[in-house]
Amino acid sequence: MYDNIQDLRKAALSCERCGLARTRTNVVFGVGLETADVMFIGEGPGKNEDLQGEPFVGRAGELLDKMLIAAGFSRDKNIYIANMVKCRPPENRDPHPEEIDACIGFLKNQVKLIKPRYIVCLGRVAAQNIISKDIKITKTHGEFVEKNGVFMMATFHPAALLRNPNNKPDAFDDLLKLRDRLEEESRK
Ligand code: URA
Repeated sequence: MYDNIQDLRKAALSCERCGLARTRTNVVFGVGLETADVMFIGEGPGKNEDLQGEPFVGRAGELLDKMLIAAGFSRDKNIYIANMVKCRPPENRDPHPEEIDACIGFLKNQVKLIKPRYIVCLGRVAAQNIISKDIKITKTHGEFVEKNGVFMMATFHPAALLRNPNNKPDAFDDLLKLRDRLEEESRK
């Protein structure tokens, strides 16, 4: 466990704990406010993220940013964004369980240091590994579950929204629900 994010980042950048280290261009550690109340967790870097070293910078990332900004969130201002695995799985396949196991320590350490009050899982891979292994996004998206004092919610992965735009209004409602909760809390 590292007690500051710079040391943790440094350790992640030189990690060789799984095979993804051999094919990556960059480790995609995470981005955003390091004291954020809300942390978004995706699956793993894609091609653009691998090239630029930042999460969600491709087409799915553009959509995510648009939705976030419309709901009052932004990676420059009030949220942190990370992934289940920090190196790109080749051909955009799902990360293998052993790759997630090898990487999860970094994510847990990020959560310990950032101390978000809310975690939003973007898509099935994050939701199944963080909230519950048989969670169905289509059924339980937007529902808050408390775990160790942190409220967790799953919503649609932005890449899934690009494939199936019909779910965009539901995904946006999930973000509004989160925004309303935060606003309500800040009035107390
Ligand atoms: N998809 C993800 O899950 N994470 C990224 O950073 C980019 C695309």
